[in-house]
Amino acid sequence: MMEIVKRFINFYESDFGRGIILRESEYILNEMKEFNLIVDVGCGIGEFEKYLSKFSIIGLDISEEMIKEASNRSKGMFIIGDVNHLMFRESKIEAIFSVATLEFLENYYRAIKEIHRALKKNGKILVMILNPKSDYFNEEIKDPQDYFRKIKISDLNEIKKPISEFFKIIKEEYFLGIRNKQIFETDEERYASMYVIVGKKE
Ligand SMILES: C[S@@+](CC[C@H](N)C(=O)[O-])C[C@H]1O[C@@H](n2cnc3c(N)ncnc32)[C@H](O)[C@@H]1O
Repeated sequence: MMEIVKRFINFYESDFGRGIILRESEYILNEMKEFNLIVDVGCGIGEFEKYLSKFSIIGLDISEEMIKEASNRSKGMFIIGDVNHLMFRESKIEAIFSVATLEFLENYYRAIKEIHRALKKNGKILVMILNPKSDYFNEEIKDPQDYFRKIKISDLNEIKKPISEFFKIIKEEYFLGIRNKQIFETDEERYASMYVIVGKKE
């Protein structure tokens, strides 16, 4: 098994990782409850699909190893695919969410354009990205092996720009406070580990 897959498993099996996925899943559940056909772009080991099993979510990831692990862990439907070339026909999907993925892509503009193409009119996009200004992020990247080091976008405005070009932004906020492995509610840039942008295709 690839090292990165093992790291994800260990993370989500820790109390801290479980606390994070629980809060993030609750957030997604609230935003997605009116939709039936949902795609999770960059689903990793499919942890969201485990927590959001009442939805019919298609988990998509470019990594064969991640998809293999996701299929073992959750009952959801998982496919190997590239967000830059989605295999869905135009205007077919009701909602798409993506957690900690777009900010790692070289060509995030293309990915957002593709998500827009695949979504139906009035379809929703929910993007949860790492907040590079948070204490949590800056603590984590001290570890030379940390995945966060691969981040390509460290300015939130850079990713907001193409989202607002293609979608009407209906919500944006800091989310998920973390300090000393304790999770709490906050909207403070310093403590919020994530930034959420929700948009609608008009
Ligand atoms: C940091 S992980 C996040 C996984 C999951 N969303 C989570 O929060 O646990 C980013 C994921 O994006 C996937 N990924 C990277 N480039 C991609 C692409 N072009 N298309 C689809 N998935 C991609 C990676 O394989 C990885 O599983």
